[in-house]
Amino acid sequence: MLKKKVEDICNRQVEREGYSSNLYLAMASWAENNGFSGVADWLYAQSEEERLHMLKFITYINERGGKVVIPAFKKPPTDYKSVEELFREVLKHEGFQYS
Ligand SMILES: [Fe+2]
Repeated sequence: MLKKKVEDICNRQVEREGYSSNLYLAMASWAENNGFSGVADWLYAQSEEERLHMLKFITYINERGGKVVIPAFKKPPTDYKSVEELFREVLKHEGFQYS
């Protein structure tokens, strides 16, 4: 049986991975709508990867007898001034520092 503390941490990670998936999905849609089809393809793939991360945590919790809580995800931004700004946000989200 999964300890409550571990279950809570894993559920928090479900939320983080799901938000990441939605963030990249929203970015992909912006890129597709603004003529950056290659960027959109890359971001759609990132969105799918983050969704798979979320599913791994869901499966991990369930297989150990825990309870998954699928949260309401925070709405990601929908507009960017440029593709450069979008990629700066990607880097920030991934935890990279840039100057
Ligand atoms: Fe992830």
